[in-house]
Amino acid sequence: MAKPILVANWKNHPGSLSEAGVLLKQLSGSARLYQKLSLFIAPPLPYLESVSLRTGNFAHLALQDFPASSDGTHTGMVTPDILKSFGVKLAIIGHSERRALGETNDSVAQKVKAALRSGILSLVCVGELSRDQDGEHFEFLREQIKLSLAGLNRKTDISKLALAYEPVWAIGKRADDAITPADLSQSVIFIKKVLVDMFGRTIAERIPILYGGAVEPVDATALFGGTGIKGFLVGHASLNAKSFKTIAESLIRK
Ligand code: 13P
Repeated sequence: MAKPILVANWKNHPGSLSEAGVLLKQLSGSARLYQKLSLFIAPPLPYLESVSLRTGNFAHLALQDFPASSDGTHTGMVTPDILKSFGVKLAIIGHSERRALGETNDSVAQKVKAALRSGILSLVCVGELSRDQDGEHFEFLREQIKLSLAGLNRKTDISKLALAYEPVWAIGKRADDAITPADLSQSVIFIKKVLVDMFGRTIAERIPILYGGAVEPVDATALFGGTGIKGFLVGHASLNAKSFKTIAESLIRK
C-alpha cells in the first residue's frame, strides 16, 4: 500500500533562514518517523537549498506555487524546470490564498499541465468558501474541480496528480473550528464521484485526496480515520516540530 502523504505548507514562515534552520534541526530529530510517510516540505523559495540539505533523507522539496510560463524569456520568473533541477518533486497549485490574489481555475489548469510536463507531482487545491445546509457548496466544488483539471484526460499521467480538499472557511482556524470527520467523509465521497465522472473509476481511484484546514495534533487522528483521505496538507501546525510530529504519527497509527 502507498505511504500516507504529508505536505507541510510553510507559507511565508519562518521569518528568517536561521529560524528555518532551527525548525529543520528539530524535524530531523524525527527522521525515522518521517521516512514512513511521503513527506513534502514547501518552504519559502529562498530556503529551498537549506531544506534540501537538511531533510534529504526523509523529505522531498515542494513548491507553494509557480508561474505559468509560456515559451520565451521572462525576467523575474522561476520556471518549473529550473525548480525541478533543485530537486522539487511536488507543487501545490491553486491554493485558496493564491486564488484570493487572482489565480483562476484557468491558470490552475495551465499550471497543472506545466507541472505534468516537468514531471512534478501536482497537488491541486480545491475547497468551498463557505458551507451551507442546502449543499450548494457541492456545486461550487464540482465546478472548481472540473475547471481546475480541464484539459486532462484518461490518457494523462494521472500518477502525477493529487487533490487537496481545503475548505477555505477552515484554513488558519483552530481545531475546534475545523471540519467534522462526518462532513469531511461526505466531501471526499463527492470529490471522488466528480473524479469518476471525469476520468472513470479505475483512474479516479488512483488520485489521492488530502485534507487541509486547521489540521492540528488534536484533530488529526479523527480526520484521518475512515474519511477516505490519503494524508494532510498542513499550514500553521507544520511550523511547530512537536505538533507536526504528532500529526505524522496519526497517519501511521491506523
Ligand atoms: P492551516 O493548517 O494553517 O489551517 O492551513 C491550511 C493550509 O492552508 C495548508 O495549505
